[in-house]
Amino acid sequence: MKKSTFCFTIILSLIFTDAVFSQQKKVNSTANTQQMNQFVAALMKKMTLEEKIGQLNLPSSGDFTTGTASNSGIEQKMKAGQVGGLFNIKSVAKIRAAQQFAVENSRLKIPLVFGMDVIHGYQTVFPIPLGLSCSWDMQAIERSAQIAAAEASADGICWTFSPMVDISRDPRWGRVSEGSGEDPYLGSQIARAMVKGYQGQNYSQPNNIMACVKHYALYGAVEAGREYNTIDMSRVRMFNEYMPPYKAAVDAGAGSVMASFNEVDGIPATGNKWLLTDVLRKQWGFNGFVVTDYTGMPEMIAHGMGDLQQVSALALKAGVDMDMVGEGFLTTLKKSLAEGKVTQQDIDRACRKVLEAKYKLGLFSDPYRFCNVKRAQTEIYTAANRKAAREIAAKSFVLLKNQNQILPLKKSGTIALIGPLADAKENMSGTWSVAADPTNYKSLVTALKDATGNKAKIVYAKGSNLDADSAFEARATMFGKSLHRDLRSNEDILKEALRTAEKADVIVAAVGESAEMSGESSSRSNIQVPKIQQDLVQALLKTGKPVVLVLFTGRPLDLTWESKNVPAILNVWFGGSEAGDAIGDVLFGNVTPSGKLTATFPQNVGQVPLYYNHKNTGRPLGEGEWFQKFRSNYLDVSNDPLYPFGFGLSYTSFTYEKPVLDKSRIRKTDAIKVNVKVTNTGNFDGEEVVQLYIQDLVGSITRPVKELKGFQKIFLKKGESRNIQFTITNNDLKFYNSDLKFDSEPGDFKIYTGTNSSDVKEASFTLLP
Ligand code: BGC
Repeated sequence: MKKSTFCFTIILSLIFTDAVFSQQKKVNSTANTQQMNQFVAALMKKMTLEEKIGQLNLPSSGDFTTGTASNSGIEQKMKAGQVGGLFNIKSVAKIRAAQQFAVENSRLKIPLVFGMDVIHGYQTVFPIPLGLSCSWDMQAIERSAQIAAAEASADGICWTFSPMVDISRDPRWGRVSEGSGEDPYLGSQIARAMVKGYQGQNYSQPNNIMACVKHYALYGAVEAGREYNTIDMSRVRMFNEYMPPYKAAVDAGAGSVMASFNEVDGIPATGNKWLLTDVLRKQWGFNGFVVTDYTGMPEMIAHGMGDLQQVSALALKAGVDMDMVGEGFLTTLKKSLAEGKVTQQDIDRACRKVLEAKYKLGLFSDPYRFCNVKRAQTEIYTAANRKAAREIAAKSFVLLKNQNQILPLKKSGTIALIGPLADAKENMSGTWSVAADPTNYKSLVTALKDATGNKAKIVYAKGSNLDADSAFEARATMFGKSLHRDLRSNEDILKEALRTAEKADVIVAAVGESAEMSGESSSRSNIQVPKIQQDLVQALLKTGKPVVLVLFTGRPLDLTWESKNVPAILNVWFGGSEAGDAIGDVLFGNVTPSGKLTATFPQNVGQVPLYYNHKNTGRPLGEGEWFQKFRSNYLDVSNDPLYPFGFGLSYTSFTYEKPVLDKSRIRKTDAIKVNVKVTNTGNFDGEEVVQLYIQDLVGSITRPVKELKGFQKIFLKKGESRNIQFTITNNDLKFYNSDLKFDSEPGDFKIYTGTNSSDVKEASFTLLP
């Protein structure tokens, strides 16, 4: 990422003695609200208007940038009390120096809050969030956030711009990689687990950090999957399908919320009072602070909402408390106050929210709470953290195909590892891994050599570049995530690979996307594996040797060709810093794969958006049918996904009996127990995600064909059977009706249980009036 010239010229002092904070020193950061209110009110009494507005300003320090704008003159602004926080400074020494500069040079010595995009780990990197969600393992997900918080806080960070909980049904959108897929129920569980992981019970421990739920709201529904595009959605859809994860994160106590770039109901989220105040604060009871996204405020000028003064006033009145990079508040609020466009109360509210967050983080009792340089030396990228990351990465991989049980591979003979992602350690961590240090990470070649030792021979060739088009490859390998383009001719690169493959007993093809082919501003209109890599795989298949495809991707892809032609496909997403070893663990069977897709894989991009919890329409296709005239379908492709939501194979197999309910008729106050017997019928011990879906057959608004309402990740030894029990309560039957009232409606329901959203067995019950 772009390096900045911004640096602090002050001397680092490790001792903080300023008496200004002594009044609060003894106050624990979990002190009650009354104490906090008193403290903040007393502080605000001393503040000038300029200093209050200064607290609302969040410049980027410029170690990294995620937009085109950047801030200047930060030191001067810090002296003048015009900076509330900084983000994207990396290293505890720099952060400590910046904090010291702020508290020693500004009039009121108010400490800064330091943020960063710690999205899926810090230096120990976990799988990209889409991959992580495929673990369906809430403990593992919470643990990953805990470790991320521990490492980030050891390096000076007290605030992460995560979790990203945007539901998306559109694999063209690059940021699908940063979320938890298409399902609001699963997305809500994950949102909760992430907030708990980052924040712990509260911020009383210096290894917990404040979460920021983003991007509020609906950002994952951009039209055509094109980054930053328009969104227009009914409120019924919004509340039932897109809002639940944001609400779940708020309910879990997330300290801050980031407004999204997109518009909602014709008003950009950053200036949308209904969204930021009526829903978020009044309806959901959020009491943290709202920050804009990167230059989200001045971007409202291009949205057509007015000039900088107008949009800044709009944002403040809508409920924004902190302005990331835009400097709209800093440069216009004083004028707007004088002209009556905002009130003193508006400014005070925002300032109070920011100060409260600092208080909760314990920064007033010790501004250097997160600046212990010793921690940075001993608590980052530790063996224990790496072990957890390796285990969690293996849980995120999804086995899509395994014809004739090619996998697991034996550690013997010669294995040819071929493909542009095989020797790509800079790419292992995936998109949004700003604190990654790839010098320490293993490429897949190194990891497989380590895994096999002297038992098998690993031979390697690149086989092809990422894409035939070098300009495309340059766009897709930014931020130092190079794939070291091979400048030989395509034919020469391929020939070398075929010569390498000739010596092998089995071929592992490491192909797919580069890390930066997904993520922010990485939308694609073609979601196939790049053609040159498909040609490589085809040539490898022609050798007649067994081919295992290890697929790197940040989004659901159109794998129609691969699924027809390649006997085994292991989707490894971007598994993080320990991905190489984790892939070895799964390929060689030390770990049995158990990941399940959280986003539907379509047969082609024309089916997008394609998702399991769709509506039936008035003219649905019958079960197993393809084309019928005057039905809701396509002439050229069936309505089926290539791989449905919830799908993922194992080295073993599981059989399900029909679900058995303890009642067939219930009242709203009752609960139903659903019992499902699951048996491991294969030859391996393994984990399985038992899934439960509900369908509301008749409603006052149309209801989805099924909705996930429960899941359990279980471990069964080979041959073992277990009765899994789910409890369904009235809460699981509720939805937002056309008055946006959240309630259930009496009538008939179906329960589906199974190994994925398509392969299910059913039972029925009735909810009595
Ligand atoms: C992204 C956010 C991110 C912010 C700060 C923006 O471009 O949309 O997700 O947190 O930059 O880096």
